[in-house]
Amino acid sequence: MRILQISDCHLYRESTGELAGINTLDTFDAVLAMAGACLPAPDLILATGDLVHDATPQGYDRLRERLEAHGMPVYCLAGNHDKPAVMNSCMDSSLVGTSKVIRYYDWLIFMLNSTIPGQEGGHLDKLELELLEGEISENPECHVLICLHHHPVPVGSAWMDRIALDNPGDLFLITDRYPQVRGILWGHVHQTFEGMHQDIRLMGSPSTCIQFLPGHDLFGIDNLPPGTRWLELMPTGVIHSGVQRLNQTPVKLDLHTIGY
Ligand SMILES: [Fe+2]
Repeated sequence: MRILQISDCHLYRESTGELAGINTLDTFDAVLAMAGACLPAPDLILATGDLVHDATPQGYDRLRERLEAHGMPVYCLAGNHDKPAVMNSCMDSSLVGTSKVIRYYDWLIFMLNSTIPGQEGGHLDKLELELLEGEISENPECHVLICLHHHPVPVGSAWMDRIALDNPGDLFLITDRYPQVRGILWGHVHQTFEGMHQDIRLMGSPSTCIQFLPGHDLFGIDNLPPGTRWLELMPTGVIHSGVQRLNQTPVKLDLHTIGY
C-alpha cells in the first residue's frame, strides 16, 4: 500500500492567506503537483493536522475540493490549529473523511485525535487509547500504523518539545504490548524526524508550507522548501518511507518571523 502524507497545510479562509510571507495555498498546490509528478500514485492520502490555520469552513471546503480532485481516498485528523467539529463536518464526502480506523488489506491505520481545545500541546485521552488498544487486540493478524498530530518523543527543540504529546507513556504502554505495531507518524513539527522506539519506526514530517529550524530551542524558520512524506506499507510489516520536497524555497519566505 502506498500512502502520501500531507501535513500542516495551514490554509486560510481566504485563498490569499499567508504564513511567514508565503501563500500557503500556493505551496499546498505545488506540493501536491510535485507528488503527482515525482511519486508513484498513492492508494490513499493521510492529512495529519493543522489543515486550516483559522479553522474556517471556507478553508476546509477549499481543501476538500482540492483533495477530491485527486480521486483517491483521503483521511484527516486534527491539529492544534484545527477545530475538530468544523473539520469533521466539512471533510465529509465520498472520497474525504475523518474515520479514526482504516483497514486496508493486512494493515490497520489509526487516525487519532491528540488535540486539546485551546491549547497548542497534545494529549491522547482515554477514549482514543481504548479505541486503539481494542482494535489492535481484535485484529492480531494486522500490522499497525498509528497517526496523530503531536510528537510522542522529543525532537530536540525546547519550544517545540514543550508543546508535544503530554502522555506518550500511555501510548507506548499499549504499543509495547503489541509487536504488530510497526510505525508512528505525526505532523506538528514542520521538519523531518526519523527514529525508533524499540522496533517501531517513528516518523515526523515536513509541512506543505513553512519549515521549523531543527535543533533550536527558540522558534525559528528553516529555509528548506515545503514537502511531503511518502510511505509504502509492505505485507511483511516493513515500512519504506521518505520525504520529498519542492526544488525551491518560496522567494517571499520571511526567515525572521518570530512565531506562527
Ligand atoms: Fe503546524
